[in-house]
Amino acid sequence: MIQRILILISLASLALAQSPLFYCNLVIIEERCTCNFVIYNPAGFNNLTITANPAENCTLSDVVDATGSGLTLNVPSALCNQLPILEELRMDKLGVNNLVGNPFRNCNNLKKLHLSDNSLSAIPAYAFSNTILESLKLNQNKITSINSVSFDNLVHLEFLDLSNNSPLALVDDTFDHLENLKFLHMSSCGITSLHPRLFDNLGELRELDTSGNNVTTVVANLFSSLKKLEILNLANCGLTGITASAIQNNTELLKLNLENNNIKNFNAELFNGQQKLADLSLANNNNATITPQLFTPLTSMQRLILSNCNINAINGSWFVQMPNLVEIDLSKNRIPAIPENTFSSANAIESINLANNSITILSSRSFGSLHNLHSLHLENNAINQADHHLISHSTELQAAYFGNNICANFNTDEFSLNRTFYTELLKECFDNFDSIPIAITTINSTIYDWYSVRTNDGWDSLEVSVRAYENVHIALSNSINTVEPPIEIKIGEDRNRRSHILEQGEIVFTDNVRDRLNRTAERTFIIGWRFGIVMVFRKLDQLPFMAHAIENDFPVNFFGLRTLFTDDVDMTAKWNVTRIQRELQSMAMTKIYQDIEIRRKRGMPIDLQKYLRN
Ligand SMILES: *[C@@H]1O[C@H](CO)[C@@H](O)[C@H](O)[C@H]1NC(C)=O
Ligand SMILES: *[C@@H]1O[C@H](CO)[C@@H](O)[C@H](O)[C@H]1NC(C)=O
Ligand SMILES: *[C@@H]1O[C@H](CO)[C@@H](O)[C@H](O)[C@H]1NC(C)=O
Ligand SMILES: *[C@@H]1O[C@H](CO)[C@@H](O)[C@H](O)[C@H]1NC(C)=O
Ligand SMILES: *[C@@H]1O[C@H](CO)[C@@H](O)[C@H](O)[C@H]1NC(C)=O
Ligand SMILES: *[C@@H]1O[C@H](CO)[C@@H](O)[C@H](O)[C@H]1NC(C)=O
Ligand SMILES: *[C@@H]1O[C@H](CO)[C@@H](O)[C@H](O)[C@H]1NC(C)=O
Ligand SMILES: *[C@@H]1O[C@H](CO)[C@@H](O)[C@H](O)[C@H]1NC(C)=O
Ligand SMILES: *[C@@H]1O[C@H](CO)[C@@H](O)[C@H](O)[C@H]1NC(C)=O
Ligand SMILES: *[C@@H]1O[C@H](CO)[C@@H](O)[C@H](O)[C@H]1NC(C)=O
Ligand SMILES: *[C@@H]1O[C@H](CO)[C@@H](O)[C@H](O)[C@H]1NC(C)=O
Repeated sequence: MIQRILILISLASLALAQSPLFYCNLVIIEERCTCNFVIYNPAGFNNLTITANPAENCTLSDVVDATGSGLTLNVPSALCNQLPILEELRMDKLGVNNLVGNPFRNCNNLKKLHLSDNSLSAIPAYAFSNTILESLKLNQNKITSINSVSFDNLVHLEFLDLSNNSPLALVDDTFDHLENLKFLHMSSCGITSLHPRLFDNLGELRELDTSGNNVTTVVANLFSSLKKLEILNLANCGLTGITASAIQNNTELLKLNLENNNIKNFNAELFNGQQKLADLSLANNNNATITPQLFTPLTSMQRLILSNCNINAINGSWFVQMPNLVEIDLSKNRIPAIPENTFSSANAIESINLANNSITILSSRSFGSLHNLHSLHLENNAINQADHHLISHSTELQAAYFGNNICANFNTDEFSLNRTFYTELLKECFDNFDSIPIAITTINSTIYDWYSVRTNDGWDSLEVSVRAYENVHIALSNSINTVEPPIEIKIGEDRNRRSHILEQGEIVFTDNVRDRLNRTAERTFIIGWRFGIVMVFRKLDQLPFMAHAIENDFPVNFFGLRTLFTDDVDMTAKWNVTRIQRELQSMAMTKIYQDIEIRRKRGMPIDLQKYLRN
């Protein structure tokens, strides 16, 4: 409290003060003797002395940290003379415009120096030579030129911030003495060219930020000595090209930012060897040509930003090698479709941005697991159909942006707070999706090809039209991850001699009629599962040829199709499958289900045999 009052008094007197003032409030913070000083020195006198209120165990000669406020045109020599063991000095926003008189020559312990947001225009030769600086901030000044003499002897320097000094001229030896530098920030310095040997001695550099300059090209070998570089920021550089070998030797790169340039050709070899690169942005290179080969080496990718990159088609060959993908942004391109399996290897994906494209249909089969998805941007597309599993699998969804589409128009960041309400707003998308017949061919696989069906919204039967020699399988399941689907319907097994219904892998119904299938003429079946009773009809028949009351009833969310391997015959099946809502079912099936419903309500026994065709 006393310290605060003293600072307030000092600041109040500052406004009135005509004579210079240099006052230090001493205080121990985290066991370090610290000086918060107020300086008022508009004439830039060098003959000031520091006055102070001593604190226990903390006098001027014990000070290790100092932070200034006020106004001064220079750094009075009193600072280092009276604070001889100073390690950290912060003099931001004080109006300092010169460092003449070698003010740091007696700060032999100085490790950290912040001179951000002042008015420095030059750094005198050997200005920091007597220090042991590890961190130097000169950003937001008016420095116009720097060379190696400015940074002479700074062999301990690890962090250097020169950003926002514009225009800054750098000669080829500027950084020659900074052999331990790890972080170099030089964004927005109005730099128009980078000398090819500028970074040659920076073998320890981890992070380089040259964004916001105007360098138009990256000369070959510019970065070739930066063997330990992890972060490279070349955003907003007016780049029109980047040579294929530009980052060939920077194989430790984790993060690369090339956004807001005008790179037209991304050479397919640019990212060769970038096995560690996890964060890449090429956004806003809006005249780019990008091919999927560019991304082939990027097996560690987690965050990939390709917004406004002139992309007009994508498929699995772009992203299949990226199992760790967490964030993908493909907004503002001209992508009309997300083909099935495009992102199926990305099982940890959290954020998908496909806004501002021309997508019309969206299927969960384009993605892998959606259990971690919390942000989905699809606004400003032309979506008129969407698979409901896109939403029902996205159990963590928070931000759902469907604005300006055909079948939906809402945006929310609170999807999880009212899932039922928002899911209802997507019903038209789901209905449109589920109304589209599925035309596929299955060949020789033990794995079912799964499709969605919304039983809870009344989609409780299928019209299955199939052309096959024998043995086609239709499964019903609540989840696609079950190894053994709870219900399987096998038609024309055993060379087209028998058909079966199985529950949990056990045969529960057998039909011995032959030639249920024909490889040249399609046969059409109706399969229903209302009230937990599975019935299989031939289309136009009045009675089912197979029926079974499911023992352990479950909500049918998926159906699967497959044709198994058999040794000597054609195991291809061509299918057309239409999902049907209750009210559209065949009259025959509806009649039977109505009868069953009445019996259930009256508690009467249900004898399925009675309904069967014999
Ligand atoms: C400091 O120097 C200025 C100008 O040289 C002078 O006017 C002022 O009196 C000096 N102050 C002290 C305390 O010596
Ligand atoms: C000052 O230093 C002495 C001796 O190291 C110690 O006992 C005492 O607690 C310190 N006082 C404060 C305020 O840190
Ligand atoms: C960038 O440099 C080019 C020439 O090298 C110049 O034509 C252009 O105006 C500069 N752009 C900016 C934003 O300074
Ligand atoms: C990569 O480094 C090697 C030497 O380590 C050098 O010969 C080669 O030219 C460098 N390649 C590029 C593209 O800079
Ligand atoms: C991109 O190309 C178009 C013509 O294809 C041109 O009008 C536009 O200026 C280019 N954009 C940039 C940033 O060069
Ligand atoms: C994927 O897209 C690339 C071009 O973007 C195309 O060359 C390739 O044939 C496509 N692959 C598939 C399987 O469609
Ligand atoms: C889509 O485009 C609109 C209009 O140009 C823009 O306001 C919006 O920010 C864009 N959204 C994304 C995610 O790119
Ligand atoms: C969901 O949102 C709707 C509309 O804002 C509101 O009427 C309803 O009460 C909300 N339900 C819950 C459970 O918050
Ligand atoms: C069918 O699959 C089996 C087992 O995967 C395989 O051995 C066989 O070659 C396949 N036959 C055809 C015609 O693809
Ligand atoms: C599926 O539908 C298409 C188009 O109506 C038709 O040409 C084809 O024969 C059908 N296939 C089967 C197996 O029904
Ligand atoms: C399959 O259909 C074709 C054409 O309709 C017919 O000629 C043939 O007899 C059928 N085969 C069987 C086994 O029913």
